[in-house]
Parts: sequence; C-alpha cells; structure tokens
Amino acid sequence: MTQHFTHFLTPPWSPLMEISPKQLQILDQTRLPFEEIWLPLETCDEAAHAIISMQVRGAPLLSIVAAFGVALHMDVDSSDESLKDTLYILKETRPTAVNLRWALNRMQDVLAPLTPEQRADAAWAEARKIAAEDIQTGAAIAQHGFELVKTLYEQKLSCHPERSEGSKLDSSAAPQNDITLNILTHCNAGWLGTMAWGTALAVMYAAKHFGIPIHVYVDETRPRFQGALTAWELQKAGIPYQVITDSAGGHLLQAGDIDVVIVGADRVAKNGDAANKIGTYIKALAAFDNNVPFFVALPSTTFDFTLEKGVRNIPIEERSSTEVLAITGRTKAGSIETVNIYPEGTQVSNPGFDVTPARLISGLITERGMCAASEAGISGLFGDLL
Ligand code: MRU
Repeated sequence: MTQHFTHFLTPPWSPLMEISPKQLQILDQTRLPFEEIWLPLETCDEAAHAIISMQVRGAPLLSIVAAFGVALHMDVDSSDESLKDTLYILKETRPTAVNLRWALNRMQDVLAPLTPEQRADAAWAEARKIAAEDIQTGAAIAQHGFELVKTLYEQKLSCHPERSEGSKLDSSAAPQNDITLNILTHCNAGWLGTMAWGTALAVMYAAKHFGIPIHVYVDETRPRFQGALTAWELQKAGIPYQVITDSAGGHLLQAGDIDVVIVGADRVAKNGDAANKIGTYIKALAAFDNNVPFFVALPSTTFDFTLEKGVRNIPIEERSSTEVLAITGRTKAGSIETVNIYPEGTQVSNPGFDVTPARLISGLITERGMCAASEAGISGLFGDLL
C-alpha cells in the first residue's frame, strides 16, 4: 500500500503555479467550466481581488494565495507598516474559511521579527512551504479516506454475496461485479480548492486509483454552482458522476441510493461543529435521518481551536444578491452570458456557509487519520496544536 501511495503522491493538477521564480499564475475559477483561463498574479491587490471575486476559492487555496500575496508585497515594500497593512487587507477578504487567517498569522510570525531587508526572501520561502505542505496534506487525506471507502465498499459487498463473486480489491483491476459505492458530495472540495488533490475529492481520486468502483452524486450547489467545478474535475479524472439539484439529496438518501456523504469544510470548531458551503447542514440532517454516514474531510489548517463550538459562533459570509438573481451559462451559439432570473427589485438573503453540528458527523478525515467529530476525538489526533 505504501508503495502505491508513493506513486499516487505525484499531484495531477493545481490551480496555482509558480511557472518561474516569483511568476505566479492562477486558474480563473469564475470562467470554469466553460473556459480554462490562467491569469498572472503579480501584486498583493491582485491576490486580494482573486480571493474576493472567487477567481480562487476553497479554504486551503485561499490560505496559499494569501501567503503569496504577502510575498508579492514584501518585494515592493517590506516596512513594518506595509507588513501590517498587507496582512490586514488580506485578512478582510473572506471571513468564514479560517485557513486564510491561519496562513496570514503564520506569515506574520515568520516576518514580523525580521528586518525589512530580510522579509521578501523569507516571505517567498514561507509561502512556498505552505503550498508544498498542502500537497502532502491532500495526499495524506486521500490515503486515510481511502481506508474508509474501502471498508464501506467491502461492507456493501458483504451485503450482496451473490453479486460479489470473484471480486478483487487492489489497484491492478476493478472488481468484477456490479456493485458501486455511491457517494454524495456538496460544493467543490477538489484540487481546485487546494494546491493539489483536494480534500473530499482526494478520497474519491484514491478510490478510483485503487480500483474501488464509485459513483458520485454532485450537488449543484446554488448559488455559485461549485457543483459544476466538481463535475469538471470528476469528468477529467474519469470518475462516473451525476449532478443533482440541491434539493434532491434527501430523496436519494431516503431511497437508499447513497452509501456515504463526504464533504469538505471551511472552519471546524474544537467540538467538531463544521462550517461548509451553504446547504451542507440539510444534507447532514437527511443523512442522519436515514442512517447514512456523513464524513467531513479537512486539513488541520481548517480547525479553529479558539472556538469551543461552531454553531452560531463561526462567522458566516453574507454574499452579494447578484449571485442569486443571475446565472451564467454558455449559449447554443457558444458565447458565455449572464441572465437575470427573478423579477426586478427582488430582495435576497445569501448566506454563503452553514454549520453542521458535530452530532450529525460520523467522523473527520484528516491528514493524521480519522477521528470522531468531538473535542476528545480531535484532541486525540491534534493535541499538540491545541
Ligand atoms: O465559497 P467557496 O467556494 O470558497 O467554498 C468552498 C467550500 O465550502 C469547500 O467545501 C471547502 O472550502 C473545502 S475546499 C477543499
């Protein structure tokens, strides 16, 4: 297994590249899945804009772009005042994903004690380190999550002995049976939201790589349709999927069509309450009501150990009404257009995230292994960070 994972560690795709020293490019996620456009990232303002406009998104990726934003600015002005301003500007970009603050605090801890002359090199080195660590983290989440899906698949097989005749579970061949593990996911917790692999989708990439037949139900994830990003990723990876509307999950869970739910997270409190994209909570409720396991995959940078509880404590981003009032798509003629879909003057409430209480979460999949969504479970794995 270890050997296989060493091979699997080569990351396939990344939404952020340093094409030559200090030359950064980002994949513009506001243009996906229609066009693959790479944009240069040359200033701290551009980094802040990329985060706010969601050209880059996903909790771990926000932290990496913010760290590089600091590095870009240190090349221009590395004074104490400028360091303070740049950290402040970047911290204000998006409020829910705690990874952003984690990375900026780490940059501050490294840079503040240095002289201005030392800061630019140190900032680039630290940002690169944060990015490299995220790749390793994604691969480790994949490995631990793989053990989980393998167990769930074997349990499913054991419930259908007549259909699992001669099945084989290793990376060399897909099992010879018609049993598939059906996974529901919400939002996009794939490589687009990290430096590589992703979190929830990393688990699915590992399953695919090691021959476990999976099929993924992809929530559309209104209003920004991150489900389209997940569909785009899964299609590239050759993983079978079907997109469903955000309201279809309850029915499919009740019908027994979903074996497990795996999602990402933007902030997880000390007690295991987990903030993720709006709509996650109602999926967790429906999964719980139907005895379907519900797992959250996350790097440790997503923990907020300053919060005892997440429900009603994690700040929830309120986003623009235009995200709800208009949708963007490709016309038959091939052009990409945005159209309004509500009566003129319609008022909107658009919270970007919700918090799933720990009691609805079957477990957390982290880079250090799986643990219960509870203070005891989390401190068992991450006691050194508390
Ligand atoms: O608003 P977004 O698209 O940045 O929200 C992203 C999510 O909610 C993801 O599920 C989460 O950040 C995990 S990304 C690996």
